[in-house]
Amino acid sequence: MSHVKLTAPARLRGTVEVPGDKSISHRAVIFNAVAEGSARITNFLTGADCLSTISCVRALGVEVSQEGGEVHVHGVGLRGLREPVDVLDCGNSGTTLRLLAGLLAGTPIFSVLTGDASLRSRPQRRIVAPLRALGAQIDGRLAGDRAPLALRGAELRGGEYVLPVASAQVKSALLLSALGGSGPLTLGGRIDSRDHTERMLIAMGIDLQITADQITLHPPTHPVLPYALSLRVPGDPSSAAFWWVAAAIHPDAELTTPGICLNPTRTGALDVLRAMGANIEITNRRNDGSEPVGDVTVRSSQLRGTVIGGDLVPRLIDEIPILAVAAACAEGETLVQDAQELRAKETDRIATVADGLAALGVKVEPTSDGMGLIGLGGPALRGAALQSHHDHRLAMAWAIASLVASGETTIADPESASVSYPGFWETLAKL
Ligand code: S3P
Repeated sequence: MSHVKLTAPARLRGTVEVPGDKSISHRAVIFNAVAEGSARITNFLTGADCLSTISCVRALGVEVSQEGGEVHVHGVGLRGLREPVDVLDCGNSGTTLRLLAGLLAGTPIFSVLTGDASLRSRPQRRIVAPLRALGAQIDGRLAGDRAPLALRGAELRGGEYVLPVASAQVKSALLLSALGGSGPLTLGGRIDSRDHTERMLIAMGIDLQITADQITLHPPTHPVLPYALSLRVPGDPSSAAFWWVAAAIHPDAELTTPGICLNPTRTGALDVLRAMGANIEITNRRNDGSEPVGDVTVRSSQLRGTVIGGDLVPRLIDEIPILAVAAACAEGETLVQDAQELRAKETDRIATVADGLAALGVKVEPTSDGMGLIGLGGPALRGAALQSHHDHRLAMAWAIASLVASGETTIADPESASVSYPGFWETLAKL
């Protein structure tokens, strides 16, 4: 087991170019794989999760070239996907497994999707049950609730499904399953998760009708996304959030993250940090392809506790570990509620975040759907030996906590950060 040792720096200043957005990088490869023509993707996230997507898509017979953040995908259409000769290994990536499960459930080939121990322990009934209801043949461990999942794809019939949880992976899996289907698919219920799939499918020529409470996809007449989509992937707000919190909690800090995706379904962390009293400035707002972007600067701030719950949760679900670090340095109590989805992430992030905060000297009480904690009223964490549990977002959240902790902090298995943020440790060292 490897470890990293960290101590608090006196100042924290600079500009950090965070890597491309993880959700958009996955989608850019998967969607272009079944499009008409070729696409060039730049600022692609070269984290392990998105590389898993590239290798699975290649195993489906799609030509993908990648050099650093530049990726070329040569689309083959839905019927051009080739039956893979081996199981598809999605590594640690839930997005790879669930989006591909949707796509392959609606494509007439046989495939098996699996992943690492963490991914194989995560629930899949959320995609398997609705896909089966639409006519898909899927089997897997625990009656289909755990990978490996075996799929015998077929043309699905479309229909209606009410999403019980706000999950973009489930929403996207279902929309992808309908692309080669015989009839329209309408989704209702919790459609309020990140909407990159909807934005990209529309940009690629798919007939998608979206109202406040429904999304309807009409399959294209030919089983192909009509237009390949070349794009520059904007900076990942979930990665930038580590630097925003670092700057807000450190007493002598100013950090700028340029070119960040400011899609409103992703900016809940900025809203929460603002409500906590963080000094945030957004400049250079612009549109980059189908996504709004801007430069975000955060300076040292006096934070106060807050409540994170309700509709906000899907807009910041991946940022809760780092927001909990911000709350630990704030004045007063913070309550995280309605976030039971945290239990189904790379680790049970209610348990793992609460354990780490307690080790850092914070009074924290995990609940069934979140946690309550009492902030220390400033950068007064106590250096500790922390576990990342091979969870990328925990490794990085603890690294940021160490920037305001007394004494030394050690973090086990820090390399897991490269799942979503290759270069994180180098950037931290430079700052
Ligand atoms: C993602 C959706 C979210 C998020 C994950 C990426 C996506 O998961 O936590 O990191 O790209 O669709 P859920 O769909 O489980 O909410």
